[in-house]
Amino acid sequence: MRVGKWILASGIILAAVMAGAPALAQQRDFTIDPDYSCVACHTEKRRAFLLGTHSERGIRCHDCHGGVPQAFEQATAHAGADYIGTPGKLETVRLCASCHSDPDQMRRYGLPVGQLAEYRTSRHGHLLLEGGDLNAPTCTDCHDAHTILPPNDARSNVYPTNIAATCEDCHEDAALMGGYGLDTGQIETHRASAHGVALYVENNFAAPTCVSCHGSHAALPPAVSQIADVCGQCHVQVRRAFYSGAHGDAALAGTIPGCTACHSNHGTERVAPDQIAATCTECHEADSPAALIGVEIAEQVTRATQDLHSSEEAIHELIRAGRRVADVKLRHQTALTVYLQISQAQHSLDLEVLEDLSRQVGSIATDIRAAEEVAAEHRWEHGLTLIPVWFLALSAIVLAWFKLRALRKEEL
Ligand code: HEC
Ligand code: HEC
Ligand code: HEC
Ligand code: HEC
Ligand code: HEC
Ligand code: HEC
Ligand code: HEC
Ligand code: HEC
Ligand code: HEC
Repeated sequence: MRVGKWILASGIILAAVMAGAPALAQQRDFTIDPDYSCVACHTEKRRAFLLGTHSERGIRCHDCHGGVPQAFEQATAHAGADYIGTPGKLETVRLCASCHSDPDQMRRYGLPVGQLAEYRTSRHGHLLLEGGDLNAPTCTDCHDAHTILPPNDARSNVYPTNIAATCEDCHEDAALMGGYGLDTGQIETHRASAHGVALYVENNFAAPTCVSCHGSHAALPPAVSQIADVCGQCHVQVRRAFYSGAHGDAALAGTIPGCTACHSNHGTERVAPDQIAATCTECHEADSPAALIGVEIAEQVTRATQDLHSSEEAIHELIRAGRRVADVKLRHQTALTVYLQISQAQHSLDLEVLEDLSRQVGSIATDIRAAEEVAAEHRWEHGLTLIPVWFLALSAIVLAWFKLRALRKEEL
């Protein structure tokens, strides 16, 4: 019965594949149409174009370039009022936007239509559209002209782990950037940061690429007063704590550059506990109340870190002693959650909140250590109860040995 169903299902799938395969191939390979001349001569472009998403949607060479795709002579194929040859950077923006800014065409694909509008507001867009500066990227500098793929395709130029390489073409060119008074090095710095490690080493796609902070089409550096909001898109709890304290007000007023006052923009790292106090004295006098709060934060963080470690070690001891640790592990998990809250809450500069949280970590750690000590005592007691057993076993061995010796002597 089961086998029958299985065969039936396989048959249906096979039939579907056989029926579907030629249809798909036809859709993707439009040179099957012997009347389409462009790709007869431009075979390399054909290959590049077939890899992209536009060809699947029935878009053809003449939709962008114009010309006469029925003519097989170069002169006549490249003829016609609509033939534009190779579009320039400005023309390209118009060309792409003719479909991508049209809600009627994009609706059925569920694609947003704001790329050109955003691009207009960007530093890149200003440069090209208003300044006619051809060093600025047009749509195809980031997307390619023929192999255009959606952002979630790993081969795409705009796939999260490929984005930096797309910006690199221009932003690592020191001569080019020098002309605009811009530094290079953002890509390497970002790669080595906590964000780069999360993205490239740990494959954590929640970590920001260049465009998470700058916008893809609105490529702009965030203004000083916006930085905390840019980072706060992801670090929601930190943002909340930050705005509830004095630094939040200073950031809104533009007095400090939000989060990057203590974490760099591209080389973002956590501030290590032994660096916290020094970070504060970059702006505050060494003995000022603010600097002393920094010392206090460092102490709370260090103590909570030690508590957490001792709790971890106690759990390892319990496991080694063969104890059940399910309950203890849950308690430890709670301590870990509270510990993470400390790192977030200290952005408010509110010491009371901080003390309360580190006290919670401390008391859980104390409980777990106590459980481990009790277990250790039990182990010792358990050892004591075994002494008579050992004694009896040893006596038996000694007796047996004497007996054996006596027997041997008798034999001699
Ligand atoms: C008979 C062969 C042939 C046909 C058919 C043909 N082309 Fe070309 N095309 C060429 C050659 C040769 C060049 C020049 C290549 C070069 O200089 O590198 C060229 C150049 C181009 C260029 C670069 C700009 C320019 O004008 O030099 C574009 C764009 C182009 N073709 C598009 C098309 C399109 C679109 C079609 C179909 C409507 C088409 N071609 C049909 C042979 C052909
Ligand atoms: C979505 C619009 C679009 C479509 C469709 C398109 N092209 Fe292009 N093509 C461009 C743009 C834009 C450029 C300018 C170069 C750039 O921006 O990289 C270009 C450049 C070219 C060039 C000359 C420059 C070069 O890269 O050597 C040729 C030849 C060409 N295309 C041929 C074709 C052929 C053949 C097809 C069909 C297989 C095709 N194009 C389909 C947009 C398009
Ligand atoms: C003739 C209309 C037309 C033109 C011109 C056009 N596109 Fe498209 N584009 C589409 C359609 C239709 C899709 C397919 C949407 C889909 O499959 O989800 C698409 C898909 C895309 C995608 C993938 C989006 C996604 O997330 O799936 C990108 C990126 C893209 N186009 C960029 C460009 C660029 C850059 C240009 C100019 C060189 C351009 N397009 C020109 C119609 C067009
Ligand atoms: C500086 C690089 C850059 C330029 C210039 C650029 N794009 Fe994009 N584009 C991206 C990135 C990166 C994404 C990926 C989406 C994201 O992460 O926000 C994207 C995504 C897209 C998408 C997919 C849908 C979406 O909005 O997410 C389309 C369509 C698109 N771009 C079209 C265009 C058009 C049209 C232009 C020219 C007006 C253009 N792009 C210029 C980098 C660029
Ligand atoms: C084709 C070259 C090119 C590419 C590709 C490119 N850029 Fe740019 N970008 C420029 C130029 C040129 C400027 C200088 C504009 C100015 O400051 O006047 C610039 C400026 C910027 C600025 C503004 C800096 C400032 O302080 O004014 C940001 C941010 C930026 N680019 C981010 C990106 C990101 C992110 C990418 C990749 C998704 C990217 N760019 C890809 C050429 C490029
Ligand atoms: C975590 C957020 C974030 C990420 C990720 C990020 N940037 Fe930035 N970037 C910023 C901020 C914030 C500034 C503004 C610095 C300031 O004004 O102090 C900036 C400034 C810039 C500038 C202006 C020149 C400079 O160095 O100050 C360029 C160019 C730039 N970024 C390019 C990039 C590129 C390319 C990437 C990808 C490798 C990238 N950024 C990734 C936040 C980010
Ligand atoms: C697109 C989301 C996103 C944006 C935007 C973002 N981050 Fe992050 N950030 C992450 C992720 C994901 C991690 C890695 C978390 C981990 O490994 O536990 C991270 C890690 C960090 C770390 C290290 C935390 C640790 O425990 O080691 C710091 C500090 C940080 N980000 C600060 C910032 C700052 C400052 C900004 C703005 C300039 C910013 N982030 C923008 C998502 C983001
Ligand atoms: C980039 C400079 C900068 C750094 C670094 C910095 N602060 Fe501040 N801090 C400020 C500014 C600006 C204000 C607002 C001063 C005002 O409004 O008078 C402020 C305000 C404060 C206040 C409110 C009371 C007061 O003195 O105005 C406290 C508390 C404080 N900071 C603590 C810290 C601690 C703790 C650190 C280190 C973890 C630190 N700050 C690091 C610039 C900085
Ligand atoms: C006055 C200096 C200062 C400013 C401004 C600051 N931070 Fe921090 N940040 C720290 C210190 C110190 C730590 C380390 C605390 C610890 O080890 O518990 C930290 C830790 C972090 C962490 C790691 C904690 C976690 O949840 O994983 C993140 C993420 C973070 N900051 C993001 C931000 C963001 C986002 C902003 C802006 C809204 C910001 N920081 C502003 C000093 C600062």
